[in-house]
Amino acid sequence: MSEKTAGRFLALEGIDGSGKSTQVQLLLGRLRERGVLCCGTREPTDGPIGAMIRQIMTGRLTADNRVIAGLFAADRLDHLLNGRDGLLRQVEDGVTVVTDRYYFSSYAYHSVDVDMGWVIDGNRLSAELLRPDATIFLDVPVRLALDRIGQNRSHTELFEKEDRLTAVRAKYLEAFARLEGVERVTVIDADADVDTVAERVWAAVSHLFPAV
Ligand code: TYD
Repeated sequence: MSEKTAGRFLALEGIDGSGKSTQVQLLLGRLRERGVLCCGTREPTDGPIGAMIRQIMTGRLTADNRVIAGLFAADRLDHLLNGRDGLLRQVEDGVTVVTDRYYFSSYAYHSVDVDMGWVIDGNRLSAELLRPDATIFLDVPVRLALDRIGQNRSHTELFEKEDRLTAVRAKYLEAFARLEGVERVTVIDADADVDTVAERVWAAVSHLFPAV
């Protein structure tokens, strides 16, 4: 199949509270205005492995950190390859897909607890099957992210969260440096109003969608 007929694959990344889900929706709107056939998706997925991950994240199941990292890698492969709405087929069929999180989330979140090289190796098949045409990192100060997600949380919870998100942000930047030249990553200053950030996101990907 020629490059021209395949869709594009775009990944939005960021720490919790960085505004990814809003920006995914705004980007999809912009693409539709351009006449681009597109859809949005997210990880963890709504599939069976994603459901298990959510049970672990809400404390209904427990698992070792290495197992959780493995589950996310498996969820990602299911996201790509499942026979219902697998992304690989959709992109090959000409649909542009925008995902809220992809493997850089694994590199950043899991490498706080386990070796980053191991996490990258564990996701190698996904990277080989479908590497994003663009990964956009919405960079926000941890304090701002905490304000956004802060409602209904205790001081202690927020304190723990601040430490964790600071570590995750550092791991994202470490992963981008490590994969420079392999991955196409744009770091965007997302400490601005929603429309300004949307403009910055569009500026980073618009070259992939030349006006016809
Ligand atoms: P969720 O609330 O569904 O998404 P978001 O915070 O983006 O709105 O939770 C996703 C959580 O899962 C988030 O804290 C990051 C984490 N995560 C990982 O630890 N590893 C991964 O590979 C992915 C995709 C997400």
